[in-house]
Amino acid sequence: MATSHASEVTMRRNPVLVLLWLWVCVIPPVHGADSEVLKPRVPLDQIAEARTWTNPVPAAPDNIEQGKTIFHGKAFCVTCHGRDGKGLGEIEGLRGKLPRNFTDKAWQAARTDGELFWILKNGSPGSDMASFIPLVLTEEEAWHVLLYVRSFSGK
Ligand code: HEC
Repeated sequence: MATSHASEVTMRRNPVLVLLWLWVCVIPPVHGADSEVLKPRVPLDQIAEARTWTNPVPAAPDNIEQGKTIFHGKAFCVTCHGRDGKGLGEIEGLRGKLPRNFTDKAWQAARTDGELFWILKNGSPGSDMASFIPLVLTEEEAWHVLLYVRSFSGK
């Protein structure tokens, strides 16, 4: 098989092909987990609108404290997102996507408040993150709890 032998030799001698192979087959899995988390959760046809929503509740300590009470209390966010906000709460057997790690600075920077509010209204499709407004939270309570979610960024 003269031809296949010839192409094997070309492949072996061509560093560009080897680099291309490394890039396609080896590098993406290393970064895969992060970029999966950073991908927008709000559907593309709604994201522009969601990004215009801003938190009307000022990030004052007593408002953050109210958000914390909701996070640990009636909205049971803590069961999945954990006391430390790292996304490994007390619920066992979560399938598929893990709860978000709120201490991930890259994730915090990738999301607007409006996008997070959209998630509290609609849930994150295809995951265990359910919708909380209006059944569990009023919009005002949701904005308070988001102040608490933001406080995990360590600012
Ligand atoms: C049953 C477990 C569970 C509970 C309870 C829960 N979450 Fe989640 N949450 C998840 C999972 C799983 C994800 C990841 C979804 C994804 O990757 O799309 C998530 C993702 C999120 C995100 C990130 C969405 C994004 O844009 O990346 C926010 C914000 C969030 N949750 C806030 C909350 C708040 C606030 C509460 C309480 C009101 C709460 N969650 C309660 C499981 C839960």
